[in-house]
Amino acid sequence: MDVDDLVVVGAGVAGLTAALHAVERGLSVSVVAAADARDGSVPAATSTAYAQGGMAAFAPGRGDSLDAHVADTLTAAAGHADLAAVRSILADGPAAVDFVAGHGLAFDRDPSGDLARTREGGHAVRRIVHAGGDATGAHLHAALWSAVRHDPRIRVRRAVVRDVAMVDGRAVGVVDADGQFLPARSVVLATGGLGALWTSTTNPPSSVGSGVALALRAGATVADLEFVQFHPTMLFTPGAGGRCLLITEALRGEGARLVHADGASITAGVHPLGDLAPRDVVASAAHHAMVSTGAPCVFLDARDVPDLARRFPTVTTGVRATGIDPVRDLIPVVPGAHYHCGGVLTDLRARTDVPGLLAAGEVARTGLHGANRLASNSLTEAVVMGVRAVETASEDLSVTPPAAVPQVRHDRGPGTPAAVIRAAMTAGAGIDRDAVALENALAAIDSGGSADTADMALVARAVVTAALLRTESRGCHRRSDAVASGDADATFTLRLDGAGGELTASTMSRDHAPVAAV
Ligand code: SIN
Repeated sequence: MDVDDLVVVGAGVAGLTAALHAVERGLSVSVVAAADARDGSVPAATSTAYAQGGMAAFAPGRGDSLDAHVADTLTAAAGHADLAAVRSILADGPAAVDFVAGHGLAFDRDPSGDLARTREGGHAVRRIVHAGGDATGAHLHAALWSAVRHDPRIRVRRAVVRDVAMVDGRAVGVVDADGQFLPARSVVLATGGLGALWTSTTNPPSSVGSGVALALRAGATVADLEFVQFHPTMLFTPGAGGRCLLITEALRGEGARLVHADGASITAGVHPLGDLAPRDVVASAAHHAMVSTGAPCVFLDARDVPDLARRFPTVTTGVRATGIDPVRDLIPVVPGAHYHCGGVLTDLRARTDVPGLLAAGEVARTGLHGANRLASNSLTEAVVMGVRAVETASEDLSVTPPAAVPQVRHDRGPGTPAAVIRAAMTAGAGIDRDAVALENALAAIDSGGSADTADMALVARAVVTAALLRTESRGCHRRSDAVASGDADATFTLRLDGAGGELTASTMSRDHAPVAAV
């Protein structure tokens, strides 16, 4: 059986970056990703392909600097980011842009030929580069996937990974749903986020936190799971569930306004940056506007955005498909589950606390996002950390995985029908949470009835457990029963321990120093 230097789980921006960089470094690599249900020759959709805004990277000499990007990121993160992580990852932002451009992504350019840059919530300046107008993720994914597909050195396997294979506490490959063992010297989890734990989301249905479950069952620590970011503007269509169209924040960067049906501003007086306040602030304002008026949605007024249809083709086409013309009409929007700021705890070399197990992209918690991610920092982070995961793996090539499937942890708990889990998360773990609603969600998640969803139930249980632990409001975690502001430094971590695989909690400081068991 072939032994890879690296097996990458997931085919979004972090995973594809890792695969491409691995062969550049001379490593043998396989990418394992679930097959698309309609076309088994390509991987299933990832959140990357639906990203619209772009990649945030400071442009030296154009009124921007690393310090300014760091400052905006720290402010958005509500006092909870790890300064060392923020500086280190954002410093590599321009190189990340060069990496994807070098692998075929044609960024949009301004009339002088420079990279065109837009603004989104929380950014003081225009520093977000984009492609295809508002189709950055689709273009990025297509470019990286094409580069991977045409590189004969990269093996792509269409399979669902069930377990990380372990020997003596070290990851030595993965085991797929058919029980096939893929041995590797290092494993990179690049499985994306968990927005599809909610009834409506901007994410594809596969985003149910599978990497968090794999990591927990491999014995790794996860952190900051309570920080789930709700995007303020997801297209509202009555009765719609599943993946709903994102209405990019870049529209507000180009002048669109969030309004009530009568045109009154929703963000006026809420934050000095108004419609360009950090995302947690705008999402909360939209949510409270709906609660106070009883309206099922609020509206985005994009009618004054110059050249709307050309600059924002994804939004224009998607909204027009519902019979609304954003050039002439208000766009009905609601907040929707969008991005997980927490995840598998890693250091700045993408290492988890399980030897041989690395994580990059949305699945990982590096400390960059704190309690609320700054818009468009995520694609940048995924590229930076995908590259670093490979650098780390390349220093660890002496391991010899076993020839046969080693022991894997099969102690999955009970599952619950996916629809029940999603309803529980939507009712109890939305923008506003309180202890009673969270406890009710936990009871529903644990109600049982489906063996197939054990991993989804585990991840939902972990998110709700973390949300119960943080009794203050911070960033995108808002408790309507909050106690006075707590300790921004306290980071809640979870692990699966004991014979029964119980979730156990601890705290650490946000720069990784262990503090206490909870
Ligand atoms: C958006 O385009 O509004 C989303 C960007 C992001 O989530 O970073």
